[in-house]
Amino acid sequence: MRIVITGGDGLIGKNIAPYLTRHHECFSLTASEWDVTDEEAGRRVIRELNPDLVINLAAITDVDLCEDEIELAERVNVYGAECVARLCAEYGIGLVHFSTDYVFNGKKGSPYTEDDTPEPLSVYGRTKLESEKKVRNFHPSPLIIRTQWVYGDGGKNFITKVLDAAKKKDRIEVVNDQFGSPTYAADLAEPLELLFELKKSGIYHVANSGICSWYDLAKEVFRIKKISVDLVPVSSEEIKRRAKRPPFSALSTEKLKKDTGFSLRPWKEALEEYLTQL
Ligand SMILES: NC(=O)c1ccc[n+]([C@@H]2O[C@H](COP(=O)([O-])OP(=O)(O)OC[C@H]3O[C@@H](n4cnc5c(N)ncnc54)[C@H](OP(=O)(O)O)[C@@H]3O)[C@@H](O)[C@H]2O)c1
Repeated sequence: MRIVITGGDGLIGKNIAPYLTRHHECFSLTASEWDVTDEEAGRRVIRELNPDLVINLAAITDVDLCEDEIELAERVNVYGAECVARLCAEYGIGLVHFSTDYVFNGKKGSPYTEDDTPEPLSVYGRTKLESEKKVRNFHPSPLIIRTQWVYGDGGKNFITKVLDAAKKKDRIEVVNDQFGSPTYAADLAEPLELLFELKKSGIYHVANSGICSWYDLAKEVFRIKKISVDLVPVSSEEIKRRAKRPPFSALSTEKLKKDTGFSLRPWKEALEEYLTQL
């Protein structure tokens, strides 16, 4: 299969491309190679590369930045997704679109299923929810993968941030009142491929199993790396951020398991593998 990845230079793209390349011809494109808000650029790419599948990872993902740059977030996350979906529909190309746990308000208190009603708290969450709607409106059978708390090789993420902080400070504060499932970006490739090969469409939640807080995650990082640091649990109230985050946004992956027989491994196991080769 010929696969084109938009936003391929980002965290998830860098981590899933190596796996997909083993079985498919994979073209991972940067924003300058395919700006998703430029329909003509998309048309040129599609004519040149003739893909069977587009994986749309292009997005403005800085949750706090989105609060200040609303127009940019809407243009890339919503209009960009619409352009990609329209082009894929026009050329009869399969589409996988990525979305997020931040479409939920985090008040449910147990893992969110695909049938739960979204209620985003932030501009990022709202634009990603709108992107899901656009993709479903403009493409006949999109596969939408909602994932969360992703880390992996290349680029900044929570893990690299706490490791960097430990080099500079003796005392690190991390919130202990937001819960989710940390997900190793490389672990997303196999279920994505499986879902697509089984011709599944609609929304699927995909994340490593198990739930923790950001504080628990940082603690586990320092335990595995044998780093001694004064790690202090704090509340979200104490660390003021521009965007509101859902307090509990773990995603239930039961639908994935039921429809494919596939479950992602526990987050601690994936984290250990990632940190060992870091
Ligand atoms: N990381 C997570 O924890 C997480 C969780 C849930 C869902 N997701 C979703 O997964 C997808 C990929 O996330 P990620 O973590 O890989 O994000 P990322 O590292 O921020 O990558 C996003 C990529 O999109 C590119 N981009 C920005 N504007 C673009 C445009 N107009 N046209 C084409 N590309 C553009 C960026 O390029 P530049 O850097 O050059 O601007 C970047 O390479 C996103 O849809 C995100 O919402 C991520």
